Amino acid sequence: MKILGISAGTKNGSNDCMCKEALMGAKERGAEVEFINLFDLNIQHCTGCTACVNAIFSTGRKVCSLKDDFEWLMEKMLDADGIVFAVPIFEKGTPGIFHTVMDRFGPSADRGMLTAATEIAKKTGAQAPDPRWLQDKVISYMSIGGSDWHTRTQCDCGIQAMTPMWTIIDNEVFQWSLGILSDDSKVARAHEIGVNIAEAAADIPHAEYKGEPGLCPHCHCREFFFHSDGVVECCQCGIRGKMEIADGKYKFVFPEEQLEHAHDTMSGKFIHSQDIDRENGAAHEFRKTEAYKEKLQKYKEFIGRSVPER
Ligand SMILES: Cc1cc2nc3c(=O)[nH]c(=O)nc-3n(C[C@H](O)[C@H](O)[C@H](O)COP(=O)(O)O)c2cc1C
Repeated sequence: MKILGISAGTKNGSNDCMCKEALMGAKERGAEVEFINLFDLNIQHCTGCTACVNAIFSTGRKVCSLKDDFEWLMEKMLDADGIVFAVPIFEKGTPGIFHTVMDRFGPSADRGMLTAATEIAKKTGAQAPDPRWLQDKVISYMSIGGSDWHTRTQCDCGIQAMTPMWTIIDNEVFQWSLGILSDDSKVARAHEIGVNIAEAAADIPHAEYKGEPGLCPHCHCREFFFHSDGVVECCQCGIRGKMEIADGKYKFVFPEEQLEHAHDTMSGKFIHSQDIDRENGAAHEFRKTEAYKEKLQKYKEFIGRSVPER
C-alpha cells in the first residue's frame, strides 16, 4: 500500500515536517511512503483552454497543452492508494500553488466526466480513460497557519477531493503553528493522521471520515453561502437548505432530494455536466454568428494588451 505525502510549504518548513510526521505514522502501519514538495516541481497555471476535457472524450487521454511536471505529479498521485497533503494557510484559505494543482486536475479529472467518457468508449470502441481515475482513493489534508485566520481552508481542501471523488479521512487545521514542532500534541496529531490514512488505504471500501464532524452533515464543511432569498448553500457540496438554531447550536437542514444534486455524488456530477453541456452548446452557436464577431471586434479595436518589455 502506497501513501504519498505532498507539501505546499517552504522547503524543510512546518508543512514539510508535519507531512513527514504523518508519513512516519503511515509507515508504522506498513505503508510504502514517498514525499514531494510542490516547489521542487515546475507546475504552470491552468490557462482554461479545456483541451484536456476534449481529449478525454476524443482520445481517452488527459492531454494538457502545458508541458511541465504536472503529468509526473499526477502519475504519482494516481499510483498512490492514499495521499496526505500539507498546505500552508494563505489569506484564510489554501495558497495559489494548491489552487493550481486543483485547477490542473480540472474538469477532465472529474469522476463524472471520466465515467461518461469510459461509457462512450465502451460503446464506440474508442480508447477509454486510464482506469486508475475511476479507482477509489483516500486523502487527508493538514492546513497549517501562523494565526487563527483559517476559515476557508478546509472547504478549499474538500473541493480538491471532490473532483476525483476521493474519500477524505482527515481535514485538520493547525492554528498558531509557526513553531509547530515545539507543540508535541500537534505533532502527535499529524502522526495520527498518517496512521489513519494508512488504515483507511488498507480497507478503502470501508474508509470513512475520521475528523471533527462539520456543520454540513453530508460533507462536513463549515462554510456556507447565505443567499438573499433565505436559502443557505454549503460552499463545498452545494446542498441547499436552511440554517436552524437548536439549543444554541446551528443545524443545517435540507430536503432529502438535495442529496441528488450534491457536487460530490455521481448524480450531482451528471446534473452539473448536463447543465454545462447546454451552456457550452449555446455559447458555441453564438460564437458562429455575425453579432458575436462584431461585438468581439469592438473589444479588439478598443485597446490592445500591455505587456512588460523583455
Ligand atoms: C502570503 C501569506 C499569507 C498568509 N496568510 C495566513 C493566514 O491567512 N492565516 C494564517 O494562519 N497564516 C497565514 N500565513 C502564515 C503561513 O500559513 C505560514 O507562514 C506557513 O504555514 C508556514 O509554513 P512552512 O513553514 O511550511 O512554509 C500566511 C503567510 C503568507 C506568506
